[in-house]
Amino acid sequence: MSVSIITGASAGIGNSIARHILDSSSSTKVLLTARSEAPLKQISEKYGEERVSYLIGDIADENLSSALVSKAIEKFGAINSIIANAGVLEPVESVQNVTIKQWKKLFDVNYFSVVDLVSKAIPHLKKTNGNVILVSSGASTKSTVSVCLILRLCLLIAYYLLTRSTVWLGRLRCL
Ligand SMILES: NC(=O)c1ccc[n+]([C@@H]2O[C@H](COP(=O)([O-])OP(=O)(O)OC[C@H]3O[C@@H](n4cnc5c(N)ncnc54)[C@H](OP(=O)(O)O)[C@@H]3O)[C@@H](O)[C@H]2O)c1
Repeated sequence: MSVSIITGASAGIGNSIARHILDSSSSTKVLLTARSEAPLKQISEKYGEERVSYLIGDIADENLSSALVSKAIEKFGAINSIIANAGVLEPVESVQNVTIKQWKKLFDVNYFSVVDLVSKAIPHLKKTNGNVILVSSGASTKSTVSVCLILRLCLLIAYYLLTRSTVWLGRLRCL
């Protein structure tokens, strides 16, 4: 049996990780968290309450991290891994356009919430020789300009591929 706490499990990468873990073995169990309930409920209904539990809340809320650790132990009896995936990209702006309040929000969600959850789970992770997976972003080590350039480049490539395939589909239709 393996028990994982997965943050940011309502969408994107976190949602896929949760489904992948649950599909990988019938003995895996997950405790999911995010602010949106519907996608977590959907996973719970699909894989069953015996294997999936969830808590709704803002990851920056210290009460949530305590509740996650308690719930994992109460419901599943152990914690084998923490997958700290919840994160935000914004603010993607020049420094002079960002307020301290915005920076604090970013650090609360992307940094302090992770430190908080991992440190509360460490005593339980030690017992299982567990793992911590931190999901970060290249955006955390690059300037806004680089991030904007990368995003623009991705959009350009997507546009190119899309228009090329439209032309290709157009040709196909003509045949
Ligand atoms: N997608 C990429 O290309 C990419 C590239 C590099 C790094 N990453 C990193 O990968 C991680 C996931 O990215 P993604 O693209 O899958 O993002 P996403 O689709 O926007 O999903 C983000 C997840 O984090 C949750 N979340 C955000 N703020 C939260 C908060 N304050 N409290 C609780 N949950 C919160 C969201 O749930 P709710 O909104 O329901 O709360 C959602 O489940 C992030 O850490 C991101 O930095 C992504």
